[in-house]
Amino acid sequence: MPNEVAIRIEDLSLRYRVSVESRVTLKNAVMRAGRREKRRVRTIEAIKNLTIDIPHGSVVGVVGANGAGKSTLMRSIAGILPPTEGRIIVNGKVSTLLSLGVGFNGTLSGRDNVILGGLAAGLDREVLEAKFEDIAAFADLPDGFIDLPMRTYSAGMYGRLAFSVAVNMTPDILLIDEALATGDAAFKEKSFDKMRQLCEEARTIVIVSHALGILNELCTSAMWLNKGQMLAYGEVEKVTDQYLDFLNVGKVPSALEDF
Ligand SMILES: Nc1ncnc2c1ncn2[C@@H]1O[C@H](COP(=O)(O)OP(=O)(O)OP(=O)(O)O)[C@@H](O)[C@H]1O
Ligand SMILES: [Mg+2]
Repeated sequence: MPNEVAIRIEDLSLRYRVSVESRVTLKNAVMRAGRREKRRVRTIEAIKNLTIDIPHGSVVGVVGANGAGKSTLMRSIAGILPPTEGRIIVNGKVSTLLSLGVGFNGTLSGRDNVILGGLAAGLDREVLEAKFEDIAAFADLPDGFIDLPMRTYSAGMYGRLAFSVAVNMTPDILLIDEALATGDAAFKEKSFDKMRQLCEEARTIVIVSHALGILNELCTSAMWLNKGQMLAYGEVEKVTDQYLDFLNVGKVPSALEDF
């Protein structure tokens, strides 16, 4: 694969198999066996035959309706969800704590989560301690929360720490899935500044967001997913316009503004 490609996705399909039975209980299983029934399984095709090369230094927005497959794709690029078919090749260090929740343990404090996550990512202790200071300063949690178990965090505090970790790990490839959704106005503003800075540093960034105005501002290109299929990929405003037309809302402020 050429060096300038950061993420190569080849014929990727991802399927979830879910049991349709309301509750998996022994009684249900026995009754079903008595009736010689098989467990009913429904297959959800979250991504269908996706092929794309994302070059290094591009900032790609991912748009699409709820359930279109955006988070599934991101989890797969991050290596959390193995492809059902096809493959993904990633060239560079991916920020693994990409979206809210992935990688955090609620019983541990924010501090311990950051340190353990960093050690697991292969950073050495000295580097990590310096980074921890940056991460804690950027997240700027209210008094003492950094040393409390993360299950006691509000959604916004959780999001602040997750975002701060992701952007401060200096990844080659940064995956952001709605990470800004829970931050308050001040934190959002700070986050955009940080993202602009990362964009200027020519890192590869993939951002999932419903805030199309922000994507138009930050991204160089965009991808539109619909029911697991890529309907468009190209210059950001063209794609977000197409998506808006599809939604049939025109450029109403609520779709361009952040929530
Ligand atoms: N863990 C899972 N088990 C089974 N089905 C899942 C799972 N996660 C997602 N799905 C299904 O896969 C499809 C794609 O979901 P996904 O979360 O990727 O959508 P999304 O584009 O991120 O949506 P949203 O905008 O709501 O975040 C949906 O039909 C969803 O119901
Ligand atoms: Mg999602």
